[in-house]
Amino acid sequence: MITVDNIEQLRQQIQAWKREGLTIGFVPTMGNLHAGHISLVEEAHKHADKIVASIFVNPMQFGANEDIDNYPRTLEDDKSKLVAVNTDLLFLPTPEIMYPKGLDKQSFVEVPNVSNIYCGESRPGHFRGVATVVCKLFNLVQPDNACFGLKDYQQVKVIQTMVEDLSMPVEIIPVATKREASGLAMSSRNNYLSDEEKAQAAELFKALSWLAEKVSQDSDFIGLSKQAGEMIDNAGMQVDYIHIVNARTLQPASEDDRNLVILAAAHCGKARLIDNLAVSRK
Ligand code: PAJ
Repeated sequence: MITVDNIEQLRQQIQAWKREGLTIGFVPTMGNLHAGHISLVEEAHKHADKIVASIFVNPMQFGANEDIDNYPRTLEDDKSKLVAVNTDLLFLPTPEIMYPKGLDKQSFVEVPNVSNIYCGESRPGHFRGVATVVCKLFNLVQPDNACFGLKDYQQVKVIQTMVEDLSMPVEIIPVATKREASGLAMSSRNNYLSDEEKAQAAELFKALSWLAEKVSQDSDFIGLSKQAGEMIDNAGMQVDYIHIVNARTLQPASEDDRNLVILAAAHCGKARLIDNLAVSRK
């Protein structure tokens, strides 16, 4: 695996591959890699000749009250995991390389409608930071396609909308959520949980599964969501939101919608966990 920490060297390598007619797949991450991230690299290999991963803990997507300094950083371990799945290049920029003018004077990408609801409402500015860094990374890596985890369903919608609205020549490949045996969605934030909290956190997926089963036959979306929210609270977490939405538009689901997704966020110990589950209705 080639490891690169500057833009010039990155561009040279990408151009060399492109001259050879090779396609580029891209997997952006913030590091502290687990099996969910690794499944993205494995999927990427199915769609491109050379796979580029990035690790960058992006300051623009963290709120003032969110502790970016304590975000888990495990670079050596991450590198071994990426080598094990034949990653071709790891891009490791610093904040100075990505944002030389500082965050305040930097241009940004704002994706309307999908950025200010659900997680965007709880984390103002978060999706602007995500869209901006992914746009920059796309411009640097110039991939043919890029893999994103459906674990962050709203993030996938933000990126897909940005790519469509701004005519970016990148295919977005959504990848299924990797879960622990308990059903808990894998996440770097699970590191903040004790064993007891991990057992509580698994109840989030159980509540979503219960709700998905009900919603496949019953249209009392509000009443059923409330009940699922109570299940999560009773398990010792605090629900941030739980919504049943149209899988394409992310707007609240109507009775006639066939493809829905249940989006949820809950606080568990020190961590804010998110999860979602797709539901089809006949
Ligand atoms: P990060 O949280 O490191 O996640 C990187 C990628 O891994 C994202 O596409 C995310 O959806 C995916 N992922 C995380 N957990 C997963 C799981 N359990 N199963 C499958 N995929 C999973 O998301 C980000 O970083 C950042 O916002 C980023 C896109 C890199 C922009 O800074």
